[in-house]
Amino acid sequence: MDTLTDIRFVRGRIAAWKREGHKLAFVPTMGNLHTGHASLIARARELAPRVVVSVFVNPLQFGPGEDFERYPRTPANDATMLEEGGADILFAPTADEMYPSGAGRTAIVDVPDLADQLEGRFRPGHFAGVCTVVAKLFNIVQPDFAVFGEKDFQQLVVIRRMVRDLCMPIEIVGAPIVRAEDGLALSSRNQYLDPRERATAPRLNETLRCARERLLAGEGSVHEIESKASSELVEAGFRPDYVTIRRATDLRPAQPGDRDLVILATARLGAVRLLDNLRVDLASR
Ligand code: PAJ
Repeated sequence: MDTLTDIRFVRGRIAAWKREGHKLAFVPTMGNLHTGHASLIARARELAPRVVVSVFVNPLQFGPGEDFERYPRTPANDATMLEEGGADILFAPTADEMYPSGAGRTAIVDVPDLADQLEGRFRPGHFAGVCTVVAKLFNIVQPDFAVFGEKDFQQLVVIRRMVRDLCMPIEIVGAPIVRAEDGLALSSRNQYLDPRERATAPRLNETLRCARERLLAGEGSVHEIESKASSELVEAGFRPDYVTIRRATDLRPAQPGDRDLVILATARLGAVRLLDNLRVDLASR
């Protein structure tokens, strides 16, 4: 595996692969890699013979007062994991390399509407930051496939929309959420949980599972199921930002007759904001 920090070296290497006729799959990350990220790299390897992974803690997607400064950075472990996972290039640019005009002055890619709701309401500008960096990375790497985790379900839907709206010739592939044995979705931010919070954290996933059972059993309206899940989280000690049942394709509120749904929840536990979601296929009832 080659670790490259300069855009022009990445471009050079990739141009050579393309001349040889190799397809390539790309996995963007912010590092501090765990088994969830490793599953995306394994998926990328199934998709194409060449795999590029980026590690870049993108300042543009963090709001004021968020954890940009203290976001965990573990470059040596990341490189070992990627080497073992079979990545061909680790692209780890500096902020100057990615934002030559300064992060505050860069051109922006925004996906209005989809990006303003749910996470976007609590983190204004977050998805513009994500879309901008992902669009830049796509322009640098020019992959045939890009793999994103369903863990950040709204991010996946927003990226699909960006690629469609801007005619980017890239296939976006979603990968399932990797969880700890107790059901907690793996996340770099889980390490901020103290032992008591860590013991409570799986209740988020349990609550979503109960909500899914209720939906499948037709026990109450969508609104009732959302409210019940929200109160269960409060009782367990969370401060939920939202629990909502949406259409999986476009995140519009679920309407009677919709089959392909997703229950999305974000809840604070102490100082940590946890995200989780669960797909529901009502056609399977
Ligand atoms: P990061 O949080 O590092 O996540 C990188 C990718 O790993 C995302 O697609 C995310 O959904 C996926 N991922 C994280 N935890 C996962 C889990 N438990 N199971 C499956 N996939 C998981 O998401 C970002 O970085 C950034 O926003 C980025 C897209 C890199 C743009 O900066």
